[in-house]
Amino acid sequence: MTRYDFETLVDRTAMGSSKWAAMHRAAAAHGTDLTAHDGPIAPFSVADLDLPNAPEIIEALQEALAGGLVLGYTVPTEAYLDAVTGWFARRHDWHVEPEWVRVTPGVIPAFTLAIREFTAPGDGVIVNTPAYYPMFPSIESSGRRVVRNPLVEREGRFRIDLDLLEEQARDPRTTALLFASPHNPTGRVWERKELEAVARIVVEHDLLLISDEIHHDLVQPGHRHTVVTEVDPALAERTLVLSSTSKSFNIAGLGIANAVIPDPGLRDRFTRARDDLGFDNPDVLGAVAVQAAYTRAEGWLDELIALVGRNQAVLTAFFAEHVPSARVAPLEGTFLSWVDLRPLGLDAERLARLTAGEAALFLDEGTVFGPEGAGFERFNIATPTPVLEAGLERLRRALDAALA
Ligand SMILES: Cc1ncc(COP(=O)(O)O)c(C=O)c1O
Repeated sequence: MTRYDFETLVDRTAMGSSKWAAMHRAAAAHGTDLTAHDGPIAPFSVADLDLPNAPEIIEALQEALAGGLVLGYTVPTEAYLDAVTGWFARRHDWHVEPEWVRVTPGVIPAFTLAIREFTAPGDGVIVNTPAYYPMFPSIESSGRRVVRNPLVEREGRFRIDLDLLEEQARDPRTTALLFASPHNPTGRVWERKELEAVARIVVEHDLLLISDEIHHDLVQPGHRHTVVTEVDPALAERTLVLSSTSKSFNIAGLGIANAVIPDPGLRDRFTRARDDLGFDNPDVLGAVAVQAAYTRAEGWLDELIALVGRNQAVLTAFFAEHVPSARVAPLEGTFLSWVDLRPLGLDAERLARLTAGEAALFLDEGTVFGPEGAGFERFNIATPTPVLEAGLERLRRALDAALA
């Protein structure tokens, strides 16, 4: 039995949602009339949710404000750090000392800061492509080079090209790996033996490992997320693990994340660099929300994971029946489904017209994740099931008309 509301679609048009604003811009650009379709329309792009937040988080925020919380400069409290480390221990079997945790305004600021602090201008930073798109400007605007390590698809699963990774890591000008685990956009949850192979290369070639584990709580049954530092003790002195509640509890707008840095030297340098930017005080309401998420809202997350599993089944069945040439990547983690539409043989412009134009379906085009994503689409499926079904039905009609 479900306890939470995962059925109400929240129209966030007037709430300043960046995703809904992008949908309205795309609709205008394609001349799409959003009122001309049956059923609900919502964007399937940016990774946040158009669903009511966990009531436990809302209550905690209301209680804090009603209780007179002063909205001044704040440091993480002992209770906050207990909540964070308690969650890591309980959910991930990961033992983190409270002093290893550094709060930042987000995971993107944390990996950008780490790149700027621990690598030198001109250095190469490896990313597995297709990649979470802000990783590219983070590296390039820092004056570092993106070293692309394209994932390879074998037996329907994306895998890391370890031979190429080793070759790239051997280059002394390559000094870091910016790693997404679980992987966005392919939905892979790396297996322990894959992580062990990556760890061996990182250690042997003296790389810094920035492990973006923001999706670590969003793992489907049958898969297990392993925190990268757990596979090899030698990683602890060269790794930052970046985690957050922003995806799993839908509080990205509160601007708060936790970097876990076991090594004191790395931690001190990271802290100094963070503080120099004035990022030393976490968002006071964000801290309340994180603490509530980790101590009170676990049941909400479990229902979200179940919703994502059901929606992935709906999406997979839809493509199997109506577009059998398309390939839906198995969703092991995240709530982002990666669909290969290359067999349709449509160029990027035609595909965009078909989706955002004729089908009023607002997705993340594969090319935003790098050229390796050409012909793919990323669907954010953490949405009420009828909203997904309505979107797929619009796609079916548009495809029927286009291919008639
Ligand atoms: C892999 C990955 N890293 C980072 C982020 C964003 O992190 P933040 O909003 O904390 O900066 C996202 C958001 O979708 C993501 O998918």
